[in-house]
Amino acid sequence: MKTRGLREEAEGILAVELCMADSTPLPFSWQPGAHVDVQMGSGVVRQYSLTNLADEGCLRLAIKHADDSRGGSRWLHQQLRVGDRLKVSAPRNLFPLQPGTGPVLLVAAGIGVTPLLAMYRQCRAEQRPVQLLYFARSPAHSAFIEQLRHDPAVRLISGLAAAEVGAYLDQHLPAWQTDSQLYTCGPDGFMASVQQLAGERGWPSSALFQEHFQAPLVSDSQEAELVLARSGKRVTVLAGETLVAAAERVGISIPTSCGMGMCGACMTAVVSGEIEHRDQYLSDAERASGQWIMPCVSGCAGGRLELDF
Ligand code: FES
Repeated sequence: MKTRGLREEAEGILAVELCMADSTPLPFSWQPGAHVDVQMGSGVVRQYSLTNLADEGCLRLAIKHADDSRGGSRWLHQQLRVGDRLKVSAPRNLFPLQPGTGPVLLVAAGIGVTPLLAMYRQCRAEQRPVQLLYFARSPAHSAFIEQLRHDPAVRLISGLAAAEVGAYLDQHLPAWQTDSQLYTCGPDGFMASVQQLAGERGWPSSALFQEHFQAPLVSDSQEAELVLARSGKRVTVLAGETLVAAAERVGISIPTSCGMGMCGACMTAVVSGEIEHRDQYLSDAERASGQWIMPCVSGCAGGRLELDF
């Protein structure tokens, strides 16, 4: 796809507009909450939420420059220019806005606003009751502020310390009403607070939805034996180590890209052993088959795992 527009949306946040390289209509559609895989010139692949609705005929992303960027956001911020081409997947949706007519509460922190912005726009388009709570470090760090600042259904909250965010949520998170849904996206600790407080206010888990855009923090707490069937190599997977890292120690390089269980690059066939799935890529049927694993994040549920590698 071709980069049609670039804009500094807020401090450290780059807005990117993409269209088809030949300017033809997009060959796909999507629902709010969807993301695309973007391949950088550096070869790495990253996932970014779409902030706009499909009827605009282009893809809009907002990319935060991650301080610890391993070549994803840093490459986009520093290297991408208008007119450049990027390899972009069709949208996938792991965080869809559920159908319904009941009120929708969207609770975002930082760059977590991106999928929620698309949901917000969809609710407004459907005249569905919606409210957006958006926490940012400062007004300068708040993306889309020009569009949102005068909207009575949006509350922009900035400049709060972490403990104050919890106190604010404690004061302002409403009790559950029949048919209402709550969607949250932001750092893990933030989403955990939202979920906990919502639970205390009677929100059932079936009405709570959240997006993870970080590698799961869980890893195996016990050692396990990893067998790489094609080479016959064996290695002990240390507590807290990924299968990919363990294989690397014996010279076997499993291709990876996102390192977060989202892109599919590391998908590997399992010869034997029980899997602890932690990815967001495999379908329920693929998991149930026991035949596939995403070794960048998933682990071993028993003491031994044999992979077709
Ligand atoms: S590297 Fe992306 S799913 Fe494993």
